[in-house]
Amino acid sequence: MRISLSIMYIILGKNGYIAEAIIKELTSRNLHHISFSRSDFDYTDFEKFSNYAHIHYNDLINPFKNATIINCAGYIGKPNVDACESSKADTIVGNVVFPSNLAAFCSQNYATLVHISSGCIYNGYSKHFTEEDPSNFDFQNGSFYSGTKALAEQLILKQDPNSYIFRLRIPFDEFKSPRNYITKILNYNKLLNAENSFSHRADFAKYTIDLLESKAPKGIYNVTNKGSMTTEEAIEMIKDHKITNKNFEFFDNLETFTSEVVAPRSNCVLDTSKIENQIKIRTVQEAFSDALSKYPKN
Ligand SMILES: NC(=O)c1ccc[n+]([C@@H]2O[C@H](COP(=O)([O-])OP(=O)(O)OC[C@H]3O[C@@H](n4cnc5c(N)ncnc54)[C@H](OP(=O)(O)O)[C@@H]3O)[C@@H](O)[C@H]2O)c1
Repeated sequence: MRISLSIMYIILGKNGYIAEAIIKELTSRNLHHISFSRSDFDYTDFEKFSNYAHIHYNDLINPFKNATIINCAGYIGKPNVDACESSKADTIVGNVVFPSNLAAFCSQNYATLVHISSGCIYNGYSKHFTEEDPSNFDFQNGSFYSGTKALAEQLILKQDPNSYIFRLRIPFDEFKSPRNYITKILNYNKLLNAENSFSHRADFAKYTIDLLESKAPKGIYNVTNKGSMTTEEAIEMIKDHKITNKNFEFFDNLETFTSEVVAPRSNCVLDTSKIENQIKIRTVQEAFSDALSKYPKN
C-alpha cells in the first residue's frame, strides 16, 4: 500500500541547519515526515515536485491535499549575509521567487505552507517588534538579504493567506558549528555590544511543531525565546560556564562596526506575546544557560 503525503510533514531543504533540527523534532515525536534536498531531486521545479509525488505516493488523489510543507530552503549567504550583496540573483530566487511560488502551489493543492522567515527585517529599539509591524530594515535601509526576507513575507501572504510564517532570530545551541551564535562569538576578534532576540535551535523546532500540532491560527509568529540578551551578557554567561577565558574586545560604537562589514546588520528585540498566547516558551537566558552547560569546553 502506498502512503499518502497528505498525512505527512514535508520538509524542503533537508540538508540545512534549521531543517536538521525540525527533522530531529518530528522524528522524536514519531510524526510522519519526508524530507527533500535538491540533491535528491529538484523540488524547486513544481512540475517535477508534483510528478515525483504522484509517482511515489498516492497517484489517485492529490498527494499534497492536507499535507504540511515546511520550507526550510533559502539563500542565507556563506559565510555570512555579506555574500548576499554580491549574489543578488541567487538571493532573490532562493528567498523570494521560490517561497512565493511555493505559496501559490500550496494554495492550489490544499496544502499548508510553513515558511521560515527571519526577525532581521527589523532594526532599532524604538519598540519590541510585533508580527503586525511593517519591516523597517529592508532593501532601502537594511541588507539585501533582509530585504528579500521581508518581501517574501508579503508575497507569501498574498499568494496564500492561510500560510504560517515563523520568524527565527540568531540561532544557538550546544553543538559546535560555524552556524551557532556561541561558536561565532567565540571566534570573533572584536564584538559589537547589542541587545537582540535569540532562538535556541531545538526550541525553535519544538515551538514550530507545537504551534502546528496545536492548530494555532494561521499567520506570522515571532518564534524566539522570551526576552532578549546583550552581547556583553552572553560573554559573561560564556565565561561563567568556563567555556573560555579569552579577553573580548568591543567596538566603540555601531558606526565603527558597520564600517567593517559589507551589509548592515539588524539589531532588535521581537515581541513574543503572540506565540506565548498559544504555547509555553522559555526565556533566552534559560535556553542560553542550558546550551552553555552542554557546549564543549576547551
Ligand atoms: N541560520 C540563521 O541564522 C537564520 C536566521 C533567521 C532565519 N533563517 C532562515 O531559516 C531558513 C533556513 O536557513 P538555514 O540556516 O537552515 O540555511 P542553510 O543551512 O543554508 O539551509 C538552507 C537550505 O536551503 C536549500 N536551498 C534551496 N534553494 C536554495 C538556494 N537557491 N540556495 C541555497 N540553498 C538552497 C538547501 O537545501 P537542500 O540542498 O537540501 O535542498 C540548503 O541546505 C532560511 O529561510 C533562512 O533565511 C536562518
